[in-house]
This record gives sequence, C-alpha cells and structure tokens, in this order.
Amino acid sequence: MAKKSQKKLLVIHGPNLHMLGKRETSIYGKMTLATINAALKKSAAQYKLNISIEQSNTEGKIVEFITNSQYDFLIINPAAYTHTSVAIRDAILAANKPVIEVHISNIYKREEFRKKSLVSDVALGVITGLGMQSYLLAVEAAAIFLKTQK
Ligand code: DQA
Repeated sequence: MAKKSQKKLLVIHGPNLHMLGKRETSIYGKMTLATINAALKKSAAQYKLNISIEQSNTEGKIVEFITNSQYDFLIINPAAYTHTSVAIRDAILAANKPVIEVHISNIYKREEFRKKSLVSDVALGVITGLGMQSYLLAVEAAAIFLKTQK
C-alpha cells in the first residue's frame, strides 16, 4: 500500500523493451519485462518506495512521462533513444529530478553508435551491462540517495 510519506520512484522502459525474453536473447537474456517489473516492485517495497513503472515505444510519450509525472527519482532505460534523443535529454533537464540511466547490456562493449549516450551527462549515474541487476542496483542507489538527501 502506497503511503503519502513514501518517496516516489518512476521507472521508464524505452522502445522494444516490451520484447524482452523474445528479442536478441543472446544479448538481453531470456527474462521478460514482466519479470523485471515484478523484481522492481519487490525491491521498491523493501525500501519503502512508492514505484510507478511505464514502458513506451514512442519518444513523445516518454517525454510526457518524464515531465508530467510526480516523482522524486527517475530510473530510465531509454533503450535506442539513449543514442539519439535530444528530446528525452531536454525533458530530463526540464524535470530537474535525480536520474539513473540503466542498460541491460554493456553499451560500451557493442557497436560504436551505442557508445554515445545523450542522457549520461545529465544523469546522476549510469549502470550498464548487468542485466536485470542494472535495474535493481539502481533502485538500491535511489533508496540510499533519497534517504541521505535533506
Ligand atoms: C539497451 C541498449 C540500447 O543500445 C538498445 O537500443 C536497447 C537496450 C540496453 O538495455 O542494453 O534497446 O538500452
């Protein structure tokens, strides 16, 4: 049950992440988005965080989630938009909330074009390459950040 005093965590999954479990399993593994979301909810409950989770394949929708939602901390896997979206970068700057960028795969071990992120330098931190753990470590980091922040 969400309590009023609880800090709000927003998790956004970008394009094609609804295909996890079927999509390029040698890179992303066999876990589904539903599995990740269940683990995120469990972890957030342990840290007493109120979590909302969104997924969209559309850049504008992601911009709206970032700028129109109420939250204290954002965890985002912008997926392919990581490498292309000035709009998502600008939305993060406009929202002015702490952000962790996560990736399932290690974007530095892959094609050259994935090595450039338009989000990393406006994020608090980046966790990449640890599969589902990338998300769970981000929840832990968010919980510590929100607890220690005055
Ligand atoms: C990804 C990496 C991106 O380069 C890619 O476009 C994705 C997923 C990841 O989680 O590893 O869709 O963000």
